[in-house]
Amino acid sequence: MAEIRFDGKVAIVTGAGGGLGRTHALLLAARGARVVVNDLGGATDGTGSGTTMADQVCKEIKDAGGEAVPDFNSVLEGEKVVKTAVDSFGTVDILVNNAGILRDISFMKQSDLDWKLVLDVHLNGSRNMTKAVFPIMREKGYGRIVMTTSGAGLYGNFGQTNYGAAKMGIVGLANVLKFEGAKYNIKVNTIAPIAGSRLTAQVMPPNLLEALKPEYVSPLVAYLCSEQCEETGMIFSVGGGYFSRVAYVEGEGVFLGTEKAISAEDIRANLDKIKDLSKATEQTQALDQSGKILKLMKIA
Ligand code: NAI
Repeated sequence: MAEIRFDGKVAIVTGAGGGLGRTHALLLAARGARVVVNDLGGATDGTGSGTTMADQVCKEIKDAGGEAVPDFNSVLEGEKVVKTAVDSFGTVDILVNNAGILRDISFMKQSDLDWKLVLDVHLNGSRNMTKAVFPIMREKGYGRIVMTTSGAGLYGNFGQTNYGAAKMGIVGLANVLKFEGAKYNIKVNTIAPIAGSRLTAQVMPPNLLEALKPEYVSPLVAYLCSEQCEETGMIFSVGGGYFSRVAYVEGEGVFLGTEKAISAEDIRANLDKIKDLSKATEQTQALDQSGKILKLMKIA
């Protein structure tokens, strides 16, 4: 099988000054991509900024014979980050939305700022970056976008309402962009990674941080960024050598009809059937849900 390469391709990796973004950027560059190493260079809670992190990763890439430029803008300034790519390399083919911060705190104690900053960097940042690259990708009829969600959003985690909501917002963004990009060969996929990084250093013991190397995640990102990738709208769980698809399924359910009024007691009596997922089927678009209901109602 032919080697997967990125010669002639331009990639932006956000938050690439450390952790997962750094290993994504190093791998793409090692396989021929010209990479914009974006990183605001701030602290894990979203405060501060600096140039050292992105500069350091660019140096690593260049020392290994690759091509990279740093970009120190916030992902909220998507247009500016994309301008760096266009000014330096002429275009953008690949966007990896990876930048992130944490402000973990129980919901009761969460400030409006804790909510806003996390939503801004993850959700609005991914949206603004994608909004800035989309016209370029649409014009050229080619694009590969990778979003980064989290188990905290997909499945829930104590103390992370801000982060969980932002990360599920990203899934919603990708769920719709998979349709809007389809005609233009823009593939939009999402990863839910687990890796040792300065973010997870806040919650993981040292042995796990060391074992769960970010390098285990990046090969999936590289595949999803490649021309060979035909997938779109997929979500993947990845970390420590493990790879799996995550999908939405809906149970067979129960149709109680509409001829007579349905009571709360009817719901209680049918709860086991309503919750049963043994005959669940995958849902890949909103019409899957409405179509099923209209069919049961014999309207469609
Ligand atoms: P990290 O802290 O090493 O990397 C995040 C990078 O984003 C940092 O270098 C930071 O300076 C940068 N950044 C923060 N705000 C920025 C902004 N406004 N503009 C540009 N850059 C900004 O953490 P890690 O773990 O590598 O996280 C990468 C992504 O993976 C994040 O989106 C995170 O939420 C996600 N993730 C990580 C998991 C893990 O186990 N490490 C688990 C689930 C999701």
